Amino acid sequence: GRKWTEVGSIAPEMKDRVVLVRGRVQTIRPVGKKIAFVVVRERGFTVQCVLTVKPELVSSQMVKYATSLSKESIIDVEGVVTIPEKPITGATQQQVEVQISKLYCVNRAVPTLPINIEDAARSEVEIEQALEKGEQLVRVNQDTRLNFRILDMRTPANQGIFRIQCQIENIFRQFLLSEGFVGIHTPKLIGGSSEGGSAVFRLDYKGQPACLAQSPQLHKQMAICGDFGRVFEVGPVFRAEDSFTHRHLCEFTGLDVEMEIKEHYSEVMDIVDRLFVAMFDSLNEKCKKELEAVGKQYPFEPLKYLRKTLRLTFAEGIQMLKEAGVEVDPLGDLNTESERKLGQLVAEKYGTEFYILHKYPQAVRPFYTMPCHDNPSYSNSFDVFIRGEEIISGAQRVHVPELLEKRAGECGIDVKTISTYIDSFRYGAPPHGGFGVGLERVVMLFCALNNIRKTSLFPRDPQRIVP
Ligand code: 4AD
Repeated sequence: GRKWTEVGSIAPEMKDRVVLVRGRVQTIRPVGKKIAFVVVRERGFTVQCVLTVKPELVSSQMVKYATSLSKESIIDVEGVVTIPEKPITGATQQQVEVQISKLYCVNRAVPTLPINIEDAARSEVEIEQALEKGEQLVRVNQDTRLNFRILDMRTPANQGIFRIQCQIENIFRQFLLSEGFVGIHTPKLIGGSSEGGSAVFRLDYKGQPACLAQSPQLHKQMAICGDFGRVFEVGPVFRAEDSFTHRHLCEFTGLDVEMEIKEHYSEVMDIVDRLFVAMFDSLNEKCKKELEAVGKQYPFEPLKYLRKTLRLTFAEGIQMLKEAGVEVDPLGDLNTESERKLGQLVAEKYGTEFYILHKYPQAVRPFYTMPCHDNPSYSNSFDVFIRGEEIISGAQRVHVPELLEKRAGECGIDVKTISTYIDSFRYGAPPHGGFGVGLERVVMLFCALNNIRKTSLFPRDPQRIVP
């Protein structure tokens, strides 16, 4: 086979070399009948290619043919790398150009596109500036983007977002494997709700009532009862959310962990701490290009985090809010607004936008959460926040079957539907705990994006099940 070069790798060192690239036509700009500038895009990177009439090499028909190509058509270009006099403003590879000797169209795109990728890739500031200059452009709204997601995905920012997402998942696995965790897969079709509440998709399972798993919660705990010691899972999570918010999806990717606890639930928070510091370090180091691409369209400040993650108790958090004039119920839950406020206060006081809040009131946690032994109004549980928004919830679990049964009943759960789960604790079950992370939320908040739909490839929300 021939040797192919990626658009993103074309650099000044390659001067005078012949390269062969395959990409999409981003723009074609003819200058008279003898020259055409073709901007070719691949994986979010762009390079300007120049087609100039030259005897024996490039005919004027060739230039004419090139200018007839529709945007987003797939083309193969062969040519020599040269260094332009001035940096190219309309391409990511600003220091190079390709002088085309051969150009083939591999597959044409339709002549009119529902989304113009250049418009879709602009930042708010760039849009404002363009409008001021009287440029014609269309502000691409979220629904249009999602309806034509395969086009929207081609923007540099989106190419970055989903590569960052992949790296987060990758570090999650690598780190946990190195700590002796085993990757498992739990069923997504289950007999009863796993988190309680109404946010469950019910279905008919060959005549039996069933639902889509709201989390791997019950089965990951059962794997601990099965003596796996430390487990993790990366998989889909289903929530029949009613509310339409910037951070709730009906299907998201859960990064779940469950582990034996020897002495204290802080052992679980230690894993959160080291896992996430390793993850953030790795993102900053290995995803520089991706973060830059995201930041170019959606400007953001890098996440501030400490080498050792800050831990505050819920009571301490309430106290900080109180001192700032925000009254909240000390045995209730925090709403989105007070979580954000606390995030600000913590950032000001401790210089971190990533922290753990633990020892939540028992009343606001799921039935399987272990109460504090010294004060059962509180629980051995925690939430973790990035920029004042929740990305994780976790806890020590009740491993005593009698207490578990009692708690489930108190929380209004039909114990019959989870009897196999409760029975699992009757055959020798160690103390244990774990946590669940929302992958899309981590990407959203690490990059300070304003909507979770931006970090889900094909989002499922209360109003959307296509494409
Ligand atoms: O807080 P949740 O519901 O906790 C559980 O599922 C527990 N079983 C976890 C555990 O091991 N104790 O969900 C965990 C995380 C949240 O912190 C949030 O990041 C994310 O999942 N999440 C959602 N993400 C997107 N859309 C939704 N509707 C989400 N609901 C929760």
